[in-house]
Amino acid sequence: MGACGQIGTELTTQLRNKYAAHKVIASDIKEGSQELMQGGPFEILDAMDYEAVQDVVIRYEITDVYLMAAMLSATAEKFPMKAWNLNMNSLFNVLNLARDKKIEKVFWPSSIAVFGSTTPKTDTPQRTVMEPSTVYGISKQTGERWCEYYHKRYDVDVRSIRYPGLISYTTLPGGGTTDYAVDIYYKALKHKKYISFLGAETTLPMMYMDDAINATIGIMEADKSEIKIRSSYNLAAMSFNPEEIAASIREHVPAFSISYKPDFRQAIADSWPQSIDDSAAREDWGWEHKISLEEMTKIMLDNIE
Ligand code: SER
Repeated sequence: MGACGQIGTELTTQLRNKYAAHKVIASDIKEGSQELMQGGPFEILDAMDYEAVQDVVIRYEITDVYLMAAMLSATAEKFPMKAWNLNMNSLFNVLNLARDKKIEKVFWPSSIAVFGSTTPKTDTPQRTVMEPSTVYGISKQTGERWCEYYHKRYDVDVRSIRYPGLISYTTLPGGGTTDYAVDIYYKALKHKKYISFLGAETTLPMMYMDDAINATIGIMEADKSEIKIRSSYNLAAMSFNPEEIAASIREHVPAFSISYKPDFRQAIADSWPQSIDDSAAREDWGWEHKISLEEMTKIMLDNIE
């Protein structure tokens, strides 16, 4: 579900390549790219509509659900109730289907947004103070509690990752605080300049999409016994701020310049960690990242061009 979004598009492609296209049923509330719609089965589906979701699950004999439908941090601040309803009701729908044994396995993404300003900012531990201050963060932290509850109480096989900011060129992100790190590449090639809505030194944990997709499929394929955390795993690859990503772009586009005009998203970013300790994911199910900032910048610029 949420197959047409930034993560969903690439996850669907990877799952189709891996397991055969007819075995992967993509769905979203709206249509996506031609490639996504024509590459395998596709259903228009509202993740908040329990009956409709159940109908698709039964019709296609679905075993594993990846729930990628969500409203991200910046948009959620504008529509708090809508964000809460979407982010929570869609999760309850799949958790309840798993509790009732209609599906076997659930992937649900959490986020670095579960942390707040009272959380240690660097090398944020797996288990620490969590006082999220955004609607999105509150929904993700609550979701984590419910995932763990459904696992303990109903033996639901739910697996989750706290994604950092994700960077990719296939499908644009929408409504997130980390989205600047995608937009900056487009603007660098088009205008050779970028006005950042986050300040120069706002360091955040980030990851290239291929790593995120590998982690997602990796945790879903891991043996059940390896998944020891049923709330959500910390996951990390790199950390950088706008000044540092601009410097990496300048290696390829020497004339590139960046200026700063922070808006309401600055406060969201300031409440999140700068770097994440993901040793639990590395130890429990063998997570490893591959792509660095320098490699990512090259990939992004080459492909957008
Ligand atoms: N990338 C997301 C956002 O900025 C965080 O999970 O909202």
